[in-house]
Amino acid sequence: MKRLIAILLLLLLLAPGAMAQEKPITIGVLIYNTADTFMLSIAQEIRSQADESMTLLVRNGANSQDVQMRQVEEMIAKPVDALIVNPVDRTAALFIIRLCQKADIPVVFINREPLREDMELYDKAYYVGTQPRQQGQICGELVAEYFKNHPSADKNGDGRVQYVLLKGEPGHQDAEERTTYSVAALEDAGLKPDKLAEEDGGWEKGRGQQIMAAFLSEYGDRIEAVICNNDDMALGAIDALKAAGYFSGGRVMPVVGVDATAPAREALKQGTLIGTVLNDAVGQGAASLQLARLLARGEEIVNSALRYPLQENRFIWVPGQKVVYEAQKGFPGV
Ligand code: GAL
Repeated sequence: MKRLIAILLLLLLLAPGAMAQEKPITIGVLIYNTADTFMLSIAQEIRSQADESMTLLVRNGANSQDVQMRQVEEMIAKPVDALIVNPVDRTAALFIIRLCQKADIPVVFINREPLREDMELYDKAYYVGTQPRQQGQICGELVAEYFKNHPSADKNGDGRVQYVLLKGEPGHQDAEERTTYSVAALEDAGLKPDKLAEEDGGWEKGRGQQIMAAFLSEYGDRIEAVICNNDDMALGAIDALKAAGYFSGGRVMPVVGVDATAPAREALKQGTLIGTVLNDAVGQGAASLQLARLLARGEEIVNSALRYPLQENRFIWVPGQKVVYEAQKGFPGV
């Protein structure tokens, strides 16, 4: 009889349903603006990585910090077990950190990095983002390679690169660093950059198009390269260039972006965008959800449980990568 009970117990333990069930958790996901192509893809990635033990409450801040603050309050009132926040304004992270700390809710910021001094106020505040300095450098290298391979790109033959720059958004760490380091990489490659104009396009395709149209009417053929902090603005700039007669009849213009979105990959295939840099939505989405999940369960944050290592106890940096299209090979390395 004892043996029979032992066998039954063993069978019960081995049955699939007998595996320890993970405690159900709820995670709030606040996105600054789901009309933003790249952020929409991160939100989709977070959703696709969630398992049955998690309930995700995803909200769109519609680019308004006031709206997002109400969403933070809603999440804290529930309460959720952890929050993933893509702040509308990175300096407003301070208020979000204070509210989370008071309610003892861990918070993982994504994409818009809070100020270091604000992060340090709360030991359960984390950040997952990309490496904008590296992304900027790759943008500069792409333009430099193009100039080396196409000497006629130096239209006026002055040995310098007259460029225009479409910036993401002032104060956004990705915009600032991509801007600084793309120009620095041109210099490092031995090209002498001359900035004709720079303007903030708010990461948007429509604004990219308007700004580029204005640059073209002011500088016309003096423009030798177009550096954009993201693909949406680059695609807008390409529309303006097409309307001005570029990309037909042998008139070309090197345009670079960042993100490697699906429409940008199409433009690479068509040869209107010369290159972009991966902003890894899959990696950043997975890393932020992994972290939030461990925090929500009160588990220890060990690197073996994470896809990318935790640095300085609170940061995860997901690297970028050059993305170009080669007719024979497709998209290498992606
Ligand atoms: C950047 C991305 C942009 C935009 C922005 C939003 O990292 O390259 O396309 O999504 O984040 O904060």
